[in-house]
Amino acid sequence: MHRVVPPAPHVELRGISKQFGGVRALRSVSLQIRAGTVHALVGENGAGKSTLGKVISGVLAPDSGEMQLSGTPVAFRSPRHALEHGVATIAQELAIVPELTAAENVFLGAEPRRAGYVRRRDLSERYHALCEHVGFAVPAHQLAGRLRTADQQKLEILRAVARDAALIIMDEPSAALTREETLHLHEAICSLRARGCTVVLVSHFLREVLELADAITVLRDGAVVRTSLASEESESTLIEAMLGRSLDGTFPPKSPPGADAPVRLAVEWLSAPGVRDATFAVRAGEIVGLAGLVGAGRSELVHAIVGARRAHAGSVAIDGRRATRRSPRRMLREGVVMIPESRKEQGLLLERSVAENTALSTLASLSRLGLVRAGRERKVVTEVLAKVAVRPARPEAPAGALSGGNQQKLLFARALLCQPAVLIADEPTRGVDVGARRSIYDLVVELAGQGLGVLLVSSDVEEVLGLSHRVLVMRGGEIVRELDGMVATEHEVLEAAFTARGVS
Ligand SMILES: Nc1ncnc2c1ncn2[C@@H]1O[C@H](COP(=O)(O)OP(=O)(O)OP(=O)(O)O)[C@@H](O)[C@H]1O
Ligand SMILES: [Mg+2]
Repeated sequence: MHRVVPPAPHVELRGISKQFGGVRALRSVSLQIRAGTVHALVGENGAGKSTLGKVISGVLAPDSGEMQLSGTPVAFRSPRHALEHGVATIAQELAIVPELTAAENVFLGAEPRRAGYVRRRDLSERYHALCEHVGFAVPAHQLAGRLRTADQQKLEILRAVARDAALIIMDEPSAALTREETLHLHEAICSLRARGCTVVLVSHFLREVLELADAITVLRDGAVVRTSLASEESESTLIEAMLGRSLDGTFPPKSPPGADAPVRLAVEWLSAPGVRDATFAVRAGEIVGLAGLVGAGRSELVHAIVGARRAHAGSVAIDGRRATRRSPRRMLREGVVMIPESRKEQGLLLERSVAENTALSTLASLSRLGLVRAGRERKVVTEVLAKVAVRPARPEAPAGALSGGNQQKLLFARALLCQPAVLIADEPTRGVDVGARRSIYDLVVELAGQGLGVLLVSSDVEEVLGLSHRVLVMRGGEIVRELDGMVATEHEVLEAAFTARGVS
């Protein structure tokens, strides 16, 4: 009798477990990843997706279990060892060398050399060919540290493609990308698959997963819930599998402030590098969304407001008090809290504890009020951490041990603790799972309800529209349109972002 033996899967995991201290990050995970497919991993923050990716790519050794690559047992000792077997990874937290150029970063450790030194011309030729192939355009000679997050992320993708990897693990590759850039990424992933490459895709964007993936594995609390064909899943079946419950409605209901609500943040004719003549106000109880494409000047504007970027004209006032000589520190004292876009570079001290990180920006104000007593601080911190549901709820653990989404929640906890007048959130739900995303939305709405003014920057148009009472669209450094958040459509926002012209 003849039997057709199917080819061995590209990756087969059998009973993989991994524990960090008391946390069981992976519990006897078994799964098969077919060659030449896009295989998605989904699950809540902390479900074990990144840990699984790290085991496959040799960053972490599992405590137990077995892994086979195309039918052969392997035990990677390091990412380099994995790379020798054609396994590359794009980490969730980017690993760019800021003082090297874009091209140097991409070919780091694999530069075309002749007689020991790097041939610059070869390098930039290869770089351009690669960019063209993948459909990205990042200037070759720009220092990587000067690039925005989205472009740094592209370098990581280029780097893996340049290594000719047969299996690429992408941990939330589109988290920092705009819609347009995401489409490029999707094309790149499809072309990788068409060339026979296997892609393991970790993403919180379920629509993206459903669109791109051939197979989907759902993880919950470190264990596999199921692996199925993408065609057999929908957003709601995935959410239910991830959370163990269904979610009703993505956004909380909106309640705009009354007409007599006082202005909390007033920005007038503010100009700074990348920003021109920004004028707007945020009232108590109001959520104002700042939309626009990457590079439109949204981050530049909020940086100018808090003084992280020097403004050369215009004014900012908090509760009617004009804030001159602004710096993030001073603005914090004035009651302006900012949740930064990049938690790694601007937000957290990863080796310090969760509690310390939460209290970081408030210590000064607490002590000014004479409130810093260890017990009191601990109680307040614990309360606020519980409120944002940081998991695991261990205030003494280092912040670096939290999963990406939980680090983001930590930043929110810190902001809450400050009891600010104005909250500026720059991409607050980047890398946050659907359940936690909803709790962050609830928090934003609750804060506004308490009388804060909220300025929300997000590349996710649906998110801006779902939360904001008013939407300001930026383009080319200027606010080019103001839309009523209660009635505006996605189409209107995008149209303004792409085509509306400012005064220029
Ligand atoms: N280096 C570490 N030390 C201690 N605990 C860790 C470490 N890395 C991960 N963990 C824990 O292991 C669990 C799984 O984390 P992991 O990063 O794999 O989650 P994830 O699914 O990628 O989440 P996210 O969607 O937030 O990125 C979490 O509880 C996390 O806190
Ligand atoms: Mg992760």
